[in-house]
Order: sequence, then structure tokens, then C-alpha cells
Amino acid sequence: SAAEKGGHEYFMLKEIEEQPEALANTLRGHFVNGRIVLDEQRMSDQDLRDVDKVFVIACGSSYHAGLVAKYAIEHWCRLPVEVELASEFRYRDPVLDRDTLVVAISQSGETADTLEAVRHAREQKARVLAICNTNGAQIPRESDAVLYTHAGPEIGVASTKAFLAQIVANYLVGLALAQARGTKYPDEVAREFAELEAMPDAVSRVLTTVERVRALGRELADSKAVLFLGRHVGFPVALEGALKLKELAYMHAEGFAAGELKHGPIALIEEGLPVVVVMPSPKGRAVLHSKLVSNISEIQARGARTIVIAEEGDETVRPFADHLIEIPAVPTLLQPLVSTVPLQVLAAEIARSRGYDVDKPRNLAKSVTVE
Ligand code: G6P
Repeated sequence: SAAEKGGHEYFMLKEIEEQPEALANTLRGHFVNGRIVLDEQRMSDQDLRDVDKVFVIACGSSYHAGLVAKYAIEHWCRLPVEVELASEFRYRDPVLDRDTLVVAISQSGETADTLEAVRHAREQKARVLAICNTNGAQIPRESDAVLYTHAGPEIGVASTKAFLAQIVANYLVGLALAQARGTKYPDEVAREFAELEAMPDAVSRVLTTVERVRALGRELADSKAVLFLGRHVGFPVALEGALKLKELAYMHAEGFAAGELKHGPIALIEEGLPVVVVMPSPKGRAVLHSKLVSNISEIQARGARTIVIAEEGDETVRPFADHLIEIPAVPTLLQPLVSTVPLQVLAAEIARSRGYDVDKPRNLAKSVTVE
């Protein structure tokens, strides 16, 4: 009923709007007496200090959350981080030992490939930490430690609030590692945590643009394909934006690393093709920002319809943006928490305009427990 959906036509829109709360709930209780604490940590500080390599394994949107985590963990902890699709990892011979930390991300905690990847890692004595949204699910039960996301139950098949909560949970893991390894001073860890605590409000700000993004979605409903470009943490956001559109609107959509534009994707640009560009902050990553500005001008010159997600007040992109979607200024590593939100809304609204069931897309299951 409409009441269950919080007055919305579909659960996904309700869940998109619950994201500030999902983030606040996931952060709550994890900073105590000036230190990051993870729940149910059956791993000691010494175990965390001994970690010399991190693997992140997941499927679907959870894999994209893992890709985002790589940028933060490498930067904060100076540890090598590999992000792997669970379905690939489990059939390879990844090089692991007891000092390898495997982070398994799964909203449901029941995805068959992720579960098998956890078993594969544990057989090689790696320590596994699960990031999971479902209490007592199989993946956390078979892991050495678990950090729960508190996004609440997610009904929409396409992940939204669980995805943002997974990013935040990964960041808590990164900060816990940095704290144990001493690659960040306690005051720096405290400052990073405070930045995370400001994110629920930043996401609420993005939500004020929902109606405008929905209107854009209705305009794009007849498109044949949509491309997504991003760099740095904006690259996994582009992948996630494309995945949402495939899942919900059954539209051909691809996410690309903007630096690869000249290595192929630019050949796809034709008159009227919508291209969504996720811009980095002009202050945070000035070099990347100027490279992306030139990418947008190139694709616009070739006739693409540019949809630009950029920081509020970023005037340099205006001349190249056929549609501008503004997001609040936040630290670079945290930008996916705001830039993903309009892409979720866009995909849902395009799907709705095309007459599809946003909450139950064809052929997809919320949790893929059979292979
Ligand atoms: C399915 C869902 C996705 C989800 C993926 C991984 O494909 O439709 O939304 O990201 O499974 O699920 P998990 O529960 O392991 O995060």
C-alpha cells in the first residue's frame, strides 16, 4: 500500500529518502572515547596491525561499494587493496595468508558466490570481516568478524540505502585499520569520523533535488542508451549509475573511467546520446576536475546530451552541462555518498516512466542464493 511505501509510488523512492537515517544508524556507536570501534570484533588490535594486504569481495552494487573503499583504505592505511567480484575470486588461486584481511560485503549476507568466496579465503587462513545488513545471516556467521550496516530492511530489489551504508561501513574498517597501524594520528581519525557524521545532512541536501531529477528522468525515458563517466571515486559511482539503469529501466547503460574516453567510449558518442558525468570537486581534485571538464567539452562537441553532476558553485562546468545536477561540497573520498543519490533517482524514474515495476525488476532477485 501507499502507506507502507511512506506515501511514495514505490519502495525504492522511500528507501532513497531513508538514506540519511541509514548512514546515521550505521555510524552510531562506532566512535567511543576517541577511538573507532567495530562491532563483534573477534579480531584484536594486534590482528589488525598484522594485516599486510586487503581483499574486498562482493557482487553487484556491493562490489561497487568495495571499489569505492579501495581509494580510502589505500590512502589512509597505506595497504594494498584488491577488489574482486566474488564469482571470479572463488574460482581463482588468489594469494592469501593469515595476514590478509578479506572484507566480504553483502547486504543480504546470503549471496552464494560471496559465501563461497568467504569459505575459499578462510581455507587459506585469511581473516574475514563481513559487512552485512542482515543480522545473523550466513556470511557473517562464517566470518571471523562482522560489522553490521544499519540501513534497515531493503525491499527494492536494486540496492540504494544499503549501498550507501556499505560505503560508510568500509570507511569505518579503513579508519580502524589506520588507527591500529598508526598510519593516522588519533586526532586525524577523529576528524575523519566527524566528516562521516556530517554526511547524513549532506545526503538530506541532495534529496531536495529529487523532483528536478525525476523530471529529467521523464525526459530521458525514450533514450536507447546512457553512458556514465567518472574518475577516482567517481568511477565506481559511474558503474553504479549504469547498473541501476540496467536493473530498473532495462536500458543499455555503461559506466566508464573518464580517463579511458579516448580508448574506446568516445567512439560511441552520437547526436543526442545522454552522457552522465560525475565531476570531482574543483578544490579537492583540481587536476582531475580540469581533465573532466575537457572530457565534457569533447563529448558535447560531438553532440552528446551532457548531464553533469557537480559540486554546488562549480561554475566551470556550466557551459558544457545541458543538465546540471548540483551536490553539496564534501571531502573527495566521501563524494560517492552524495553523487550516487541522483543516479538512483534517475534510474527509478526512467523505469517508472517506461511503465516498469521499480521495486521488482524482471529476472532479478533481491538475493542470489542459487548459482
Ligand atoms: C542482487 C541484488 C543487488 C545486490 C547484489 C548483491 O543482484 O539485486 O542489489 O547488490 O545481489 O547482493 P548482496 O546481498 O550480496 O549485497
